[in-house]
Amino acid sequence: MRIAMIGTGYVGLVSGACFADFGHQVICVDKDDAKIAALTRGEIPIFEPGLHDIVRNNTREGRLSFTNSLAEPVAQADAVFIAVGTPSRRGDGHADLSYVFATAREIATAVSGFTVIVTKSTVPIGTGDQIETIINDLRPDADVCVVSNPEFLREGAAIRDFKLPDRIVVGSDDQRARELMAELYRPLYLNSSPILYTGRRTAELIKYAANAFLATKITFINEVADLCEKVGADVKEVARGIGLDNRIGSKFLHAGPGYGGSCFPKDTLAFIKIGQDNEAPQRIIETVAAVNEQRKRAMARKVASALGGNLHGKSIAVLGLTFKPNTDDMRDAPSIAVITALQDMGARVRAYDPAGIEQARALLSDVTYCENAYLCAAGAEALVIVTEWEQFRALDLAQLKSVMVNPVIVDLRNVYRPSDMHKHGFVYHSIGRPTLTANQSPPELETSLDRQNGMEVEL
Ligand SMILES: NC(=O)c1ccc[n+]([C@@H]2O[C@H](COP(=O)([O-])OP(=O)(O)OC[C@H]3O[C@@H](n4cnc5c(N)ncnc54)[C@H](O)[C@@H]3O)[C@@H](O)[C@H]2O)c1
Repeated sequence: MRIAMIGTGYVGLVSGACFADFGHQVICVDKDDAKIAALTRGEIPIFEPGLHDIVRNNTREGRLSFTNSLAEPVAQADAVFIAVGTPSRRGDGHADLSYVFATAREIATAVSGFTVIVTKSTVPIGTGDQIETIINDLRPDADVCVVSNPEFLREGAAIRDFKLPDRIVVGSDDQRARELMAELYRPLYLNSSPILYTGRRTAELIKYAANAFLATKITFINEVADLCEKVGADVKEVARGIGLDNRIGSKFLHAGPGYGGSCFPKDTLAFIKIGQDNEAPQRIIETVAAVNEQRKRAMARKVASALGGNLHGKSIAVLGLTFKPNTDDMRDAPSIAVITALQDMGARVRAYDPAGIEQARALLSDVTYCENAYLCAAGAEALVIVTEWEQFRALDLAQLKSVMVNPVIVDLRNVYRPSDMHKHGFVYHSIGRPTLTANQSPPELETSLDRQNGMEVEL
């Protein structure tokens, strides 16, 4: 099958490369000339594990190519995917659909023969109807079906998620479109990833409901963590204790600094607006968004209280800037709010991230960016772990302690065992777990979960 993939960001590039890997003929289109030039040179403009090899192999074998001009790929395509951005509209939180509608207008001018237009971008309910109207108005002769096919991949694990999805949602009542979509995804269907066929509006809603639910789960355990700190309970054990219940499930129950990233913040806001516009307010998500928003600055206050309440003139080392490990994406990363709040309290911030520094420079000023974790910690009065990159899970604690002014760690991702940190002479603050003071005995506070599992990873 011939595919035109419009938008080569985190979703479009991964989807295009994976479809080519399935054997389809894919042309990726982007209006960003620099991105297309880089891709044509074989350079990958984003950090995504495994993507480089897939792009290189499929380009070499002639199934994947890149262009800044939409006309020819769209004219030749059986399926045209819209994978452009849908950020929050400035000022009101609605999804900004200007890129989607601009793309639809361009597609209308170029489309030829029976073509399925597939919306992969996350869009409000009814957007598929609007795309259909745009195309029908501009090209009444066009033989097109507009399908919703929301994407659920996670940055940092995007290739795996695309190739082994929990489900594929196809929103269309048109039989020709359903058959074409089944053919596109046939390699996955053979691997027994179920295809869920729904109406278009239902598919659009599924995407928002999924993200809203996950954001709720994270926010729920974050509030439980706050309670744990007050009553002397351990949130990791609570999460384990509830997560082993199959009705609840263990994923997205890791307490932390609040959700961020390219999707949850904007999609929860858009979902709230959709609910309000349709007189079906989503009050749970309204609360989730508000609670999450306040949490990030509260993390900076946690750092301040670890240092006796005053950060003025103090050097604070921050490990991890991206919104999650294994990506360079800084969109709405919790680190931005945490660092800004630390600076507002007078702290001098040093930071290290394995992949995000370039993007962070554009978003955070007056930060000293360092080349590794130990240089970052040098001279710091406290070290804050904001993103749980793998390399931060196995730091040389003796070396770390030797370069810091105070042995104070505030771990916003619970990657270490309190008892281990205590043994290494750190004052260790984490989320929803007891903080050991110098005269407490570590084994009393080491939990069975610490002993059995140590560190857990969730992307
Ligand atoms: N990033 C994720 O993890 C993720 C996961 C699931 C769904 N989504 C959704 O997928 C969509 C894309 O997200 P992303 O993170 O890949 O965005 P992105 O910002 O990384 O990429 C969007 C790309 O579209 C290009 N573009 C915009 N208008 C264009 C046009 N008219 N013609 C050609 N190219 C155009 C931009 O130049 C950019 O390269 C969004 O709706 C997002 O909510 C994202």
